[in-house]
Amino acid sequence: TETVVAVDGPAGSGKSSVSKAAAKRLDFAFLDTGAAYRALAWHVLESGANPEQATEVISSLGGFDYSIGTDPDGYAVHVSGTDVTESIREPRVSAAVSAVARVPEVRAHLTALFRSIIRDSDKAGIIVEGRDITTVVAPDATARILLTASEEARMSRRSAELATESASDVAIALQKRDRADSRVVDFMTAADGVVTVDSTNLNFDETVDAVLDVIRT
Ligand code: C5P
Repeated sequence: TETVVAVDGPAGSGKSSVSKAAAKRLDFAFLDTGAAYRALAWHVLESGANPEQATEVISSLGGFDYSIGTDPDGYAVHVSGTDVTESIREPRVSAAVSAVARVPEVRAHLTALFRSIIRDSDKAGIIVEGRDITTVVAPDATARILLTASEEARMSRRSAELATESASDVAIALQKRDRADSRVVDFMTAADGVVTVDSTNLNFDETVDAVLDVIRT
């Protein structure tokens, strides 16, 4: 893979949909690393383990047979052959994922997996999005971007996405997850050499263009 684009940011910053759209425009592959953490959280819950117990999480890592597509036009996530593309978005998975993601063995395991996916991609480039891509997974990426937005903007975008839940439930769950996650990885400040794109006052297309500008320079 010639060009590696690393995109980090908090939940609701639009990083997933923006990265996907940018990948389509460039005919690049796309990797949603949050989906992998979610798939593991789903697997932990499914196997009856307690996501809050690191030892139980580490045990389920052994039987974690996971695959994720890198086509920005629609990537499926599978765990042991089961299509979990939809179920990893359930609130019970969102509530469990931070506890799973803070286990160092989990991060090491998934980071190695992400690096092999990046290496083996057969496209000219790949956009990888998550929380620690610019700093840990691909610190030497061609382009490194921190996508931010005000908390208010992020909350309202997320609650518009998840129309079935009440806006305040979404806001509370999201704040809780961001707080837990930022104790493990600092995804709110740009590391050295990382370009910040603030989407608070940009619409979707403008944000995609801003990201493409960074990739092209
Ligand atoms: O991006 P998304 O919100 O789907 O990520 C789900 C969760 O996965 C995050 O809340 C975080 O706990 C974890 N995550 C992580 N490191 C990444 C990507 C996601 O810890 N690179």
